[in-house]
Amino acid sequence: MIVLGIETTCDETAAAVIERLDDGRGRILSNVVLSQVSEHAAFGGVVPEIAARAHVEVLDVIIADVMTQAGCSFDAIDGVAAAGGPGLIGGVIVGLTTAKAIALVKNKPLIAVNHLEAHALTARLTNNTPFPYCLFLASGGHTQILAVRGVGDYVRLGTTQDDAIGEAFDKTAKLLGLGYPGGPEVEREAARGNASRFALPRPMHGRKDADFSLSGLKTALRLEAEKIAPLSDQDVADLCASFQQAIVDVVFDRLRTGLRLFRSRFGSPTALVAAGGVAANQAIRKALNRLAFEVGTTLVAPPLELCTDNGAMIAWAGAERLALGLTDSLNVAPRARWPLDEIAAAEGARRRTAAYK
Ligand code: KG4
Ligand code: ZN
Repeated sequence: MIVLGIETTCDETAAAVIERLDDGRGRILSNVVLSQVSEHAAFGGVVPEIAARAHVEVLDVIIADVMTQAGCSFDAIDGVAAAGGPGLIGGVIVGLTTAKAIALVKNKPLIAVNHLEAHALTARLTNNTPFPYCLFLASGGHTQILAVRGVGDYVRLGTTQDDAIGEAFDKTAKLLGLGYPGGPEVEREAARGNASRFALPRPMHGRKDADFSLSGLKTALRLEAEKIAPLSDQDVADLCASFQQAIVDVVFDRLRTGLRLFRSRFGSPTALVAAGGVAANQAIRKALNRLAFEVGTTLVAPPLELCTDNGAMIAWAGAERLALGLTDSLNVAPRARWPLDEIAAAEGARRRTAAYK
């Protein structure tokens, strides 16, 4: 089965063609990501209107490019998938409408993929990871620990009460005068800094639930920076290193609890899976590896370019859904908000209705 996937929920315009083999394994035939970072850099964050316009300008070229690279015509694909949300609504409209047009003209099934579900299922494309697994999803807008029990079957075990981890990295970078996106910048600075110079809090440490809270850490960092301003290059590096170490400790503690909750409800996970842009951070990956080893499971972390937003994950999630006959009508609406557990509830209802019929 061959599926075209389109991603336009944030500041990356991306498309890919993937193949899902009958045994459930996946293969990427082409995958192109065009980052808009330079268009937003001057504003220190993503400007929704600029993002939507930039998607319109390049999406058709990128789709033509991935089709050529895959050596594939529109007639040869089995379905068209686009991220239907959650995300910046202008961008979601661009990607989903384009997918609808292709589906309509070429008479192909349309799959409106939840962007978070696509991050959640990427480990199956890269590693063929069987269900159920424990997912740590950390990006610019989301921080969640989920039990992934099947396609469309997600149980949230923990989430953030305020900022997402990527957001905390981005805000820290902005505060310290570093570039956007902040995660890679903070990680680079942290590599030459002293992580024990500043005593920052580890919010929620030891709590019985698996939730996160990061705004207190962000404030503590700001206060430390204000105390010693103006900042030297070494101050910035030390603040980044101390901040990243605090995040690493928080992630380790919250996930250890998340895995405990997973085990008590669903038995042993097949793996601990990391997804989302933050999973590109090497210090966080190392901590996740250590934790997985400690609890007797393995860490599955997709290659860096598949952790951040891309079209292959959308195409793959589309293929997983298509294989189960889960397609969408051309009326499907783009969504700014679309929590993952809502998919589980909707599909549970669909299954119950089907059983009733
Ligand atoms: O998944 P993603 O590409 O887009 C969203 O759906 O949000 O994640 C982007 C986020 C940004 O907040 C970025 O700063 C963060 O992931 N990020 C990182 C790293 N690379 C990207 N955070 C920490 N360390 C990194 N190396
Ligand atoms: Zn994402």
